[in-house]
Amino acid sequence: MKIVSTIAELQAHDRNRNRFRVLVPTMGALHAGHVSLIRLARKHAGEAGEVVVSIFVNPLQFEPGSDFTRYPRPETADEKICRAKGVDLLFRPSANEKMYADDRSTVVEESALSRGLCGASRPGHFRGVCTVVTKLFHLLAPQAAVFGEKDFQQLAIIRRMVRDLDFPIEIIPGAIVREADGLALSSRNQYLTAEERAQAPIIRQALLDAVQSPETAVSKVISAVRQKIESVPLARIDYVEIVGADDLQPRLVVEPRSLLAVAVFFGKTRLIDNILLR
Ligand code: PAJ
Repeated sequence: MKIVSTIAELQAHDRNRNRFRVLVPTMGALHAGHVSLIRLARKHAGEAGEVVVSIFVNPLQFEPGSDFTRYPRPETADEKICRAKGVDLLFRPSANEKMYADDRSTVVEESALSRGLCGASRPGHFRGVCTVVTKLFHLLAPQAAVFGEKDFQQLAIIRRMVRDLDFPIEIIPGAIVREADGLALSSRNQYLTAEERAQAPIIRQALLDAVQSPETAVSKVISAVRQKIESVPLARIDYVEIVGADDLQPRLVVEPRSLLAVAVFFGKTRLIDNILLR
């Protein structure tokens, strides 16, 4: 596995490149969810193709006062995982590599799908995501890139951006990987106290109840989900919404491709999850 930590090094490495490349963009603190994306990337790239993982904790997508400085950065462990999973190239800009010029003044903003859900509670977040993903797409020039359905809104926004700006890149979705008790894996799960961790699977239980329910009135499904999540004392709901999986617009009635999406705080830690209802 080749590790590259500067843009200049990457450009030198890629000078005579001709292999089909599949990119898995991450912020590191790799877990089984990321590993499933790496596997998917390998499947897509084949043995002749190249799997590239990027690890960059992107300051632009953290709102002021959020967890940018304390975001986990287990460099050695991440490197080991990439090596073990057969990654060909790890692009991990070093701390003093300037990914953003001090006087940078250009951003990429998707303006419809980014409005609701996480975009409403994290202003500027998806602008930061679109800007860094654009940079990674330009720097690494992959033929395909893998994104997890855990961040369903992010996946939809990236697809839209790729379509709108004609990136010649196929976007491949990866299914959500969960702990045995149903909690979706996240680099942020390690912030949870033992008590919070014990209560967090209520999110998945509430989503599964909603899928089982014959109720089709969105307001009723949402109330039931809220009630279930609020049955544990440490949960504080950020949002519970039912939207169309493609346009992310709110629905009144549960219909095919309705997506139930939730964000719930446990202490300061914000967890997200989602499920297709039909
Ligand atoms: P990060 O949170 O590190 O996630 C990297 C990728 O892993 C994303 O596509 C995310 O959806 C996926 N992922 C996370 N948890 C998962 C799980 N439990 N199952 C399946 N996939 C999972 O998302 C980002 O980083 C950043 O916003 C990034 C796209 C890298 C831009 O900075």
